[in-house]
Amino acid sequence: MNIFIGSKEECDLKGAQEIVNQIKNKPNTVLGLATGSTPIDMYGNLIKKYKAGEVSFAKVKTFNLDEYLGISRDHPCSYYNFMQENLFKHIDIPQDSVHLPNGEAADPEEECKNYEKLIEGSGGIDLQVLGIGHNGHIGFNEPGTPFGSVTQVVDLTESTINANSRFFDSPDQVPRQALSMGIKTIMQARRILLFAYGADKAEIIKEALKGPVTPEVPASVLQLHPDVSVFLDHEAASRL
Ligand code: GLP
Repeated sequence: MNIFIGSKEECDLKGAQEIVNQIKNKPNTVLGLATGSTPIDMYGNLIKKYKAGEVSFAKVKTFNLDEYLGISRDHPCSYYNFMQENLFKHIDIPQDSVHLPNGEAADPEEECKNYEKLIEGSGGIDLQVLGIGHNGHIGFNEPGTPFGSVTQVVDLTESTINANSRFFDSPDQVPRQALSMGIKTIMQARRILLFAYGADKAEIIKEALKGPVTPEVPASVLQLHPDVSVFLDHEAASRL
C-alpha cells in the first residue's frame, strides 16, 4: 500500500494524474467511480485535464460503486445526477459507457446480479476510486458486510443516513437502502485509489490502514489488496 500525504489540492491533482496516466496507458480503461464530497475536486481536475487536451474518455467505461434504492435518476440527490454534474457532462465519455446501478429497478436483486455480470463482461475494473465513510464503509458496505459480498441491496446505518442527510432537505428524505458493489467486487479491481480528507476521517483512517483487518471496519480489507494508493491530507493522516 502506498500512502501519499499532502495538501488536499496536492492529493486531488496527484489522484487525477494517476487516472490520466492509466487512461493514456489503456485508452479503454474500465474505471470504478465513487460519489460523496471527497472526489469532487479530483473529478474537477479530470475535467480540466480533458479540456486542456491531456486526456480523452471516449473509450473509457465507468461503473459507479452505488446508487440509492427508490429514487429516480433525475432526482437531484441521485448518484446518477451527482456523476453527471460533477464529471460526465463535462467530458467526452459516451453516455452508454457510464453505468450506475438502477435505483428504480423493478427487481433490485436481479439488477444487482446484472450489474455484477456487466462489470465482469467488460473485463473487470482496472482502477477503482474510493472514499471512506466515518464508520469505515466503502461504497455502501456498512460494518459487518462479509468480505465475500458482491453487488447487493444494502440497508444504510443511521450514521450513514445522518451523514448523507446534508445533501437532502431532511434526514427522512434519505433513502434507507441502496444498491452497492460488494467488498469482493471492489477487491477484484486491479488498482484502487482511496482518498480521505479532514480531521473527522483521521480515526477511521488509522483503524482502516493500521488496525486489524475485520468486516467491522470494511475499508480494512484494503490492507489485503496488492495495489492500493491512499491519498490523505495532513488532517486525515494525523492519527497514523
Ligand atoms: C457515501 C458513499 C461513499 C463515500 C462516503 C464518504 O455514503 N456511498 O462512496 O465514500 O459516503 O462520503 P464523503 O466523501 O462525503 O465523506
